[in-house]
Amino acid sequence: MLKETVSNERQPKPFNVENMDESYVLPQYRVDLRRLSEKEYNKFIKRNTVSDWSLLSWKDIGRPYEVSKYSKERTDWEKQVNRTMDPHTAWTYFNKSFHEWFVKDVPEEKTRGKREFLKSLQSFKPKEVKHALGDLIKLQLCNYVHRIQDGIWDPRGKRALFEGLHLKKPRILFLGAAEGYEAMQLGAMYPGAYIVMVDYDEYCKNTRFAEFPDSYPFLGENPNTGQWKITYKEDLNIEYIVDDIRNLDFGKEFDIVLSVGLLEHFPDEYKHEVADWHRRFLKDGGYAILTTPRNQLRSRLYYNVMADVMNHTYRELMTVEQMGLYMYESGFDILRHGYIKVHNGLICRPR
Ligand SMILES: C[S@@+](CC[C@H](N)C(=O)[O-])C[C@H]1O[C@@H](n2cnc3c(N)ncnc32)[C@H](O)[C@@H]1O
Repeated sequence: MLKETVSNERQPKPFNVENMDESYVLPQYRVDLRRLSEKEYNKFIKRNTVSDWSLLSWKDIGRPYEVSKYSKERTDWEKQVNRTMDPHTAWTYFNKSFHEWFVKDVPEEKTRGKREFLKSLQSFKPKEVKHALGDLIKLQLCNYVHRIQDGIWDPRGKRALFEGLHLKKPRILFLGAAEGYEAMQLGAMYPGAYIVMVDYDEYCKNTRFAEFPDSYPFLGENPNTGQWKITYKEDLNIEYIVDDIRNLDFGKEFDIVLSVGLLEHFPDEYKHEVADWHRRFLKDGGYAILTTPRNQLRSRLYYNVMADVMNHTYRELMTVEQMGLYMYESGFDILRHGYIKVHNGLICRPR
């Protein structure tokens, strides 16, 4: 059942299993408690298209697509200080810009955007018109991709990628965690989890994660009954570390090492190092889980139109085969690979 509502004034834990299979479009995001039918499952997620990774070569699958259009904030900064923006600074700009767009009350902003656009038409200044139109287009796109399609959080796709792992009360390490969404989804699916989130941009801990809605429902299982259960952020056991991943001194103590949108931000000469971050802290028999944005026409368009919001850092779009080959060549066996709405997903294990 699809419900539209414009009210954000909900109780802290507003959903329970009676709301199963319902979906609500709130002003800022979608709540999605729908499960997948088998037909939807096959439409929704494609899994395991490569049967033997040792037979795949870069000649067959080509290299990722590099998004070369950078945000104005980055190009202005570089002009001003006359050097290339370093990754840490780039991430601080990205996280702030991404979050500010993500938390907009979209219906209200769209009305305001339309008003601004009409006003700009009266000014007869082409620069103002272009700016107002640009913001309006970005809002429409953000509304469609994030709020209507729910392409970024994509809980049904994420659950399909993460399901069926052999784990009990797992320790989960999230590298480059930002607001921490996927670790929380894993925590709901594998109860009793202890989650460590790591990000070197303190804005992620203090704003993106801190302001993640307490009322957002994550679907998972109740281990006592085997039935569906709804978990909220505050039900989870989470430690958030603000530091560079390179400084972590954990041993091999995690059942899952996870990253979402990390690998594609490193040119090829650094990919092995990033792969190694997923090996270093993993217990024997643990799972490295990675997702990256897909290289599809609509994603290329999205990152070009949204460049000012999204592109402060080096960024590639890749196929799941390219992603899998990077990890395979870095010494991982690929246990599961596939793609959901806008991301590729891999579950792998060191050989
Ligand atoms: C693209 S974001 C991850 C996407 C995130 N899941 C989201 O929804 O926005 C990558 C994150 O990794 C962090 N990061 C990148 N390199 C890092 C490093 N060396 N150490 C710690 N955090 C890092 C960035 O600050 C950023 O928040």
